[in-house]
Parts: sequence; structure tokens; C-alpha cells
Amino acid sequence: MGLVTLDPGYGNTGSTTSKITFIDGEKGILRYRGIPIEELAEKSSFPETAYLLINGHLPTHTELDDFASELSNQAMIHEDMKRIIDACPATVHPMAILGSMCLALSSFYPNSININNKEEIDHTITLILAKMPTIAAFCYKKLLGQPYVYPNSRLSYAENLLQMMLARPSEPFVVDPDAARALDLMLILHADHEQNCSTSTVRLVGSAETNLFATIASGICALWGPLHGGANEAVVKMLQRIHEEGGDVEKYVAKAKDKSSNVRLMGFGHRVYKNFDPRARIIKASCDRVLSKMKKGDALLDIAKRLEEVALADEYFVERRLYPNVDFYSGVIYRALGIPTNMFTVMFAMGRLPGWIAHWKEMLETPGRRIGRPRQIYTGPAKRRYLPVSER
Ligand code: CMC
Repeated sequence: MGLVTLDPGYGNTGSTTSKITFIDGEKGILRYRGIPIEELAEKSSFPETAYLLINGHLPTHTELDDFASELSNQAMIHEDMKRIIDACPATVHPMAILGSMCLALSSFYPNSININNKEEIDHTITLILAKMPTIAAFCYKKLLGQPYVYPNSRLSYAENLLQMMLARPSEPFVVDPDAARALDLMLILHADHEQNCSTSTVRLVGSAETNLFATIASGICALWGPLHGGANEAVVKMLQRIHEEGGDVEKYVAKAKDKSSNVRLMGFGHRVYKNFDPRARIIKASCDRVLSKMKKGDALLDIAKRLEEVALADEYFVERRLYPNVDFYSGVIYRALGIPTNMFTVMFAMGRLPGWIAHWKEMLETPGRRIGRPRQIYTGPAKRRYLPVSER
């Protein structure tokens, strides 16, 4: 048996090579397939970015049209899937239904279990991207007890997601183009982030040749945690608490520094970014734009800005190189769009789908790939005798 090196949290362990996403955490650089995130945020759309991540190149006009119309055509889900959603208790967290429904897709599309057929793989990829927003919106409607709103093939990806979540049969609903653009931007910014916790989970589960639906369901489960995708929900809850307690930002920062408090400044810190998170910069700039275009103010944005200011001037955060991450301001935008707090992590999952898919596909296409199987250093008892229950 060879020597096993311990690397808690895999801080220094490269688990794979990848051509998908480049990050320079010192310089705050993020590129998808070589293209800077700032350019994609300004010029691309989510379906185009998804195509880029999954296929490795920007689509031609025809490729993009075909891809986008396939996503529209496949957006409906089987009526029986609604019955599964119906059967969940109204108190369910939407991430629980999302993960379960993603897994359930494998029973509605059993051919997806065959991962050796390229056409089947491509079809499954389209099905996931097309159907998950419908499932996400239905999860939300379930929580509200409102009727499901079906996808509309005349709307864009982001417009559809907003309409399916926010429209009600009792009143006319027209998607606000500024809101759709803001959501599209959020999806682009979340689309991939190399070997984060959920993507590494996807690669590990997928390395057992598990089908794509089941593999993505595992990514959704990993994302749910408050140290990962669940942080956006935790940030808004934190900002709300500070607001309700009178807006004393300094007091909260002091608590976050106190190790005995078990409190962290949610939306701050990152394993890789040690200077700034370029996504957080883009989102912060778009917060002001979105709120003013939609003629909305938000006391939580003011608290977030003050919190950032106080933390960035504090030795504790400076020494540890803790900066606002992607989750710090994203909740403020989701609130402006009318998306409730418990759906934030679901929105993150919608954005991350292409990244998970791209990594699963890249992993499958790697010559000589092996099943993921980390090692351990055993620290349990040495050999000992089995004690019958009568002697214990
Ligand atoms: N507030 C207060 N202290 C912190 C924070 C924070 N948000 N983040 C890290 N620290 C401290 C930590 O206590 C430790 O201090 P010390 O050296 O004295 O023991 C030091 O900074 C290093 O922290 P770490 O936990 O070893 O860092 P990590 O790379 O393992 O964790 C992190 C990264 C993002 C999980 C962590 O910074 C954190 O918990 N942040 C808050 C949750 C959050 O915003 N998560 C979203 C991450 S970005 C999007 C995503 O990945 O989904």
C-alpha cells in the first residue's frame, strides 16, 4: 500500500485536468472556455453560454437557434411528474423536490441510463436543461398552492422561468424585459466554477458511470448546503436579521469574528478567490442598475454595502483575505425580481446545470478515466476482539 497524503477539504489536490473553466484566484480572473466572464456577462445569453460550456465553442447562428428551440420544445414535463410534486408536503424545501424530481426524470426517460450512446447522451442533456426550469417553477407553485403555469415556447429561457414562477391565472402577466435580462445574467454568472463541491460531487458520482439525471441530482444535493449554494439564502436571512435588529452592522461583524459565536459572515470568503470574486463585482454593479430600472429600493442592499465596507476595513477579514463572493449580492437581485428567499438556491442550481453537464461529459470522454476513489488515513482502534452482547 502506497503512502497516503492527507489534504483536508482537498485544498491542494488536483482531482482532474479540465478544459472548461479557468480561475486565477489571486487576480480575480474567471473564464469559460477561455472567454472572460465580464464579456459573457455583457454580450452572451444563458443558452449560448450553456452551449459554449457543454460543446467547447460558441454556437453559430443556426446552432444557437436549433439549441434554443430544442430547449423550448422539450420544456414540458410528463403530467405524472406533477403528481409526484403534488404528493410532497407544503412545508418541503424546494431543493428537496428539485433533487428528487431530477432523479425521477431517469424513470421517465429510461434510455438515459445508457451512457454509451452519444445520441442518447445529447438528448438527455437537452432534456435536463429544458425540463429543470419547469420543475423548479412547479416546485415553487406547489409551495404557494397555486396552479402550475406551463412553459411557453415563444418566450426565452429566462422569460419562461420568470413567467412559470410568477404568473397567476387571475391576472394578466407580461414578463418585464429588464427582469428577464437580470435573471439571464445571474444564470450566466453561476454557469460554472470548476471543481467546487457540487461539481466535484458530479464528477465523483459520474465516474461510477451513473446516468446523467442521477448524477445531476447528486450535484443539487451538494449545492443545497449553506457553505455552498445555500449561502445566497443564508445571506438574505442574515441581512434581514441585521435590519430587524436595528441595522447594527459593526455588531454583526464583531460576532462573525468571534470564533465562539459559531457565526460566519455569509457571502464572504472563498477557497480560491483571495483578492476578489469577479462575479460579485458584476452582481454588485447590476444590483443598483436593476433596482433603479425596476424603480425599487431595498434596505437590505444598503445593509449589504455597509457590511462589506466595515468587513473590508477590518483586520480579521483583511488578514484572512475574505471578500464578498457571488452569493453576497445575488439575493438582493432575486428579491427585486420577486423571487422568494427559499428559491434562491434553486436559481443557483438552474444556472449551474451547464457546468455540471459539461464536467460530466468531459469526464466521460477522458481516455483512460478511472472511478473516483479517494483514500483515507485510518485513525480508529487497532485490532480488537468481538465482544458478545452478554459480555458488554
Ligand atoms: N466569516 C468569518 N470568518 C470566516 C469566513 C466568514 N465568512 N470564511 C472564512 N472565515 C475564517 C475561518 O474561520 C478561518 O479562520 P481561522 O484561520 O482563524 O481558523 C479562515 O477564515 C479560513 O477559513 P476556512 O473555513 O478554512 O476557508 P475555506 O476555504 O475552507 O472555506 C468558505 C471557504 C466559502 C466555505 C468559507 O469562507 C465560508 O464558510 N464562507 C461563508 C459561506 C459562503 O459564503 N459560502 C459561499 C461560497 S461561494 C459560492 C459557492 O461556492 O457556492
